[in-house]
Amino acid sequence: MKRLTLALALAEVAVSFASPLARGTVYPRQSFPSEFNPDPQSGFDDPTIDIADPSFATAIQAGYQGPFASYEQHELVGPVDLLRNGHVNYGVNPNFTLPLYRGLSAANTTYWWIVTDTSDEGNAKQLGVNFAPKLRFAAQGQTSSGLKGAEQLEIVNNTVGGREGMVDFSPVRSIVPGDLSPFPPKSVQPGSVGDRKYTPLIQLTNAGYEVWNAPIIAGEVDEEYLNQFCDGIPSNLLAEFRSKVHDQVLSICPRDQVVTLATIRGFSFSKSVLYLIADGSDPLPATLDGGTYAPRLAAVRTGDDDALFSGIERFFVNTNGYTNRDLPPGAPNNETHHPWRQGLNSAILGDGNPLNILGAIPTVAYDYSPLWDFNLFTWTNYSIENGIRTRLTGEFEVLGMAAAGYVTNPDGTPLSDAGIVNNCPIVHRFL
Ligand SMILES: *[C@@H]1O[C@H](CO)[C@@H](O)[C@H](O)[C@H]1NC(C)=O
Ligand SMILES: *[C@@H]1O[C@H](CO)[C@@H](O)[C@H](O)[C@H]1NC(C)=O
Ligand SMILES: *[C@@H]1O[C@H](CO)[C@@H](O)[C@H](O)[C@H]1NC(C)=O
Ligand SMILES: *[C@@H]1O[C@H](CO)[C@@H](O)[C@H](O)[C@H]1NC(C)=O
Ligand SMILES: *[C@@H]1O[C@H](CO)[C@@H](O)[C@H](O)[C@H]1NC(C)=O
Repeated sequence: MKRLTLALALAEVAVSFASPLARGTVYPRQSFPSEFNPDPQSGFDDPTIDIADPSFATAIQAGYQGPFASYEQHELVGPVDLLRNGHVNYGVNPNFTLPLYRGLSAANTTYWWIVTDTSDEGNAKQLGVNFAPKLRFAAQGQTSSGLKGAEQLEIVNNTVGGREGMVDFSPVRSIVPGDLSPFPPKSVQPGSVGDRKYTPLIQLTNAGYEVWNAPIIAGEVDEEYLNQFCDGIPSNLLAEFRSKVHDQVLSICPRDQVVTLATIRGFSFSKSVLYLIADGSDPLPATLDGGTYAPRLAAVRTGDDDALFSGIERFFVNTNGYTNRDLPPGAPNNETHHPWRQGLNSAILGDGNPLNILGAIPTVAYDYSPLWDFNLFTWTNYSIENGIRTRLTGEFEVLGMAAAGYVTNPDGTPLSDAGIVNNCPIVHRFL
């Protein structure tokens, strides 16, 4: 209060010094980055989840300051590329280009795959993929399912072939919203479905039994066919392409040995992050996110985050946050995004992605795993009716709200693990 009074007093007397306060200079909102995309599917058109340039509301231009501290030391504040076997293409909708591998299955059919994580620290550094030590435990799985989390294979002739589990990319993704509220939906159909032996995890029995995250992203299609999509997917071929290739693929190019995948925005300990979506053990998130429904991932034990031999890390998904339809009229700059938008209702209504909350990512903790254990949280009627509902961006915020009783499981019971695993490799942190 004292400081404000002083500032106002200065403003009154300091006109001759051309103080910005005295001039009443107001710096307009920046259009950063470049423009906001009106495409509601993108989720990246929303100024409330973009990281503002540090020059915003100062008298200097963007880029005038020194480099972020994170460039020197990854633990400090600023952006860090985490998955470095490819590159992020920044833009309104960032995407990620990474190496594409060809495989020959146990049935001698072609498939196409990528690599994003490994339990081997040295090879993670060497190849630029994420180091995820928990994958060794995820490979074991729970004995009740009869199948382990990973398929055991050998490196032969410098590649890994002979996979038994395969993916059917032919289904057409669809979701029918529920009647009372969009979540839970009436029906879901994932756009690709793994058979009972398919798992994205492979364990190399002649290379230290290390475990690699190696999702299959295209089925039995030849190189010539895929080379048509080196620069993207022409709209007249989109439906056919989607029946052969993973729904997150934006371009694919065996000729150049690369593939470009969409990235998804989320939060980890209040840092805005980008991740990829590959597979899910439950049809609902697999459908919503455009991933492969991979029932075998249910072999990975959930509910034991960070315990001895746990393979997973926690992931918090809201069901009933604000949607853009809740934004009252008259918002500044004709803004159409509710600043606290979040959750599955919002995503199903087409506002953008649900803005999920990830636990640990590399550089901030040791316990990252690309296998995320869903905790579904729902605002109680009390929270909604009394304006307590908001957007949460960190694990400990969710746990605090749950401990106090402001959020619960969707059925009103205390927050717990939902028994669902999604394979979502981390790509980048913005802060
Ligand atoms: C990837 O993102 C960049 C930047 O937004 C964009 O220019 C490019 O077209 C995207 N690539 C594909 C294949 O969609
Ligand atoms: C595997 O398929 C290729 C053609 O894709 C064929 O040349 C080869 O003989 C097949 N091998 C076996 C063991 O069936
Ligand atoms: C190993 O790869 C080379 C080059 O592609 C090929 O000529 C050779 O037949 C392969 N050997 C085996 C055992 O598959
Ligand atoms: C908001 O929309 C109205 C109607 O289209 C337009 O006249 C007005 O200039 C817009 N205001 C801003 C700040 O963009
Ligand atoms: C919460 O509100 C909804 C909609 O008004 C109602 O259907 C539901 O029964 C309420 N739940 C509880 C536990 O009061």
